[in-house]
Amino acid sequence: MTKILITGALGQIGTALTTALNNKYGVQNVIISDIKEDFKSDNKYYKLNILDKTELERIIIEEKITIIYHLAALLSATGEKNPILCWDINMNGTLNILDLSVKHKLFRIFMPSSIAVWGQGINRDNTEQDSVLKPTTMYGVTKVAGEVLANYYFDKYQLDIRGIRYPGIISSETLPGGGTTDYAVEIFYEALKHKKYECFLSEDTMLPMMYMEDCIKATLDLMDAPVENLVHHADFNVAAISFTPKTLAEEIKKHIPEFEITYNPDYRQKIADSWPKSIDDSSARKEWNWNHSYDLAKLTATMINNLKNKV
Ligand SMILES: NC(=O)c1ccc[n+]([C@@H]2O[C@H](COP(=O)([O-])OP(=O)(O)OC[C@H]3O[C@@H](n4cnc5c(N)ncnc54)[C@H](O)[C@@H]3O)[C@@H](O)[C@H]2O)c1
Repeated sequence: MTKILITGALGQIGTALTTALNNKYGVQNVIISDIKEDFKSDNKYYKLNILDKTELERIIIEEKITIIYHLAALLSATGEKNPILCWDINMNGTLNILDLSVKHKLFRIFMPSSIAVWGQGINRDNTEQDSVLKPTTMYGVTKVAGEVLANYYFDKYQLDIRGIRYPGIISSETLPGGGTTDYAVEIFYEALKHKKYECFLSEDTMLPMMYMEDCIKATLDLMDAPVENLVHHADFNVAAISFTPKTLAEEIKKHIPEFEITYNPDYRQKIADSWPKSIDDSSARKEWNWNHSYDLAKLTATMINNLKNKV
């Protein structure tokens, strides 16, 4: 029987993934956890610091967990403010998951990577699956190390661990948790509330992005793929759309003509400049039939529609 544990479940991706997994497996089969307190959910909830290996093991045993979606992490911008904590949570948290998954013979693990794995020495246009990984942030360092560790556990212990290099994820349900692509969510709130937005990246900063529905579809599709079809495991390039703050603002103006954007790049500009503009995801398309459905126009219309009553 499938019994799922999600770590970092109260974050931007975890909240959407919980709903999708509830629909697929039933709410009683999806256990959620996070370091945050006071959460009301239909799912059984554990307050869990991912660094607490004893408590993590107790949950795995008591709940008879078979699959883990390991989302607990510090993201790029937050990680740059506290690099040692970023290393601790992202690496030691991951090691706890991997070690206990082998010990308790779990069926499958999902662990996201990120476009932050890249830095110097890449083609920024259509960055290849197997290109050089020289990140410039501590977050990127932990994501590269996480991918390498995951592949090591696959080879050494046959742990079926899978992962995607998520681009910037855009959603209307939960606010993003401190990443370099967060502007692409904030801009919608500010456009609806104040009809203006000061962007922390320059107008021509092109980055790969994806709407949450595509992100969840990619995650579930990869987890359902037959293992014999996979050449890659924890490091799939997955792309949807790429755009700049300027093109996003122009698209928003089609819905809110008074909207105005200004630019005041901060420390996150340097991070964004080290990342790809677009990604070659042909391996994901070939190995597990990945396909996205949201383009910029559909994403913008959906975000404005979802947020206009909420804001
Ligand atoms: N959102 C994006 O654009 C994006 C892009 C690339 C990769 N990712 C990856 O996807 C995963 C989920 O990201 P997200 O956007 O939902 O992040 P988020 O910051 O919104 O959520 C992460 C969650 O982890 C929890 N957490 C932090 N420290 C913890 C700890 N010590 N123990 C347990 N929980 C802890 C936080 O409370 C938070 O709810 C991460 O691995 C992230 O690196 C996200």
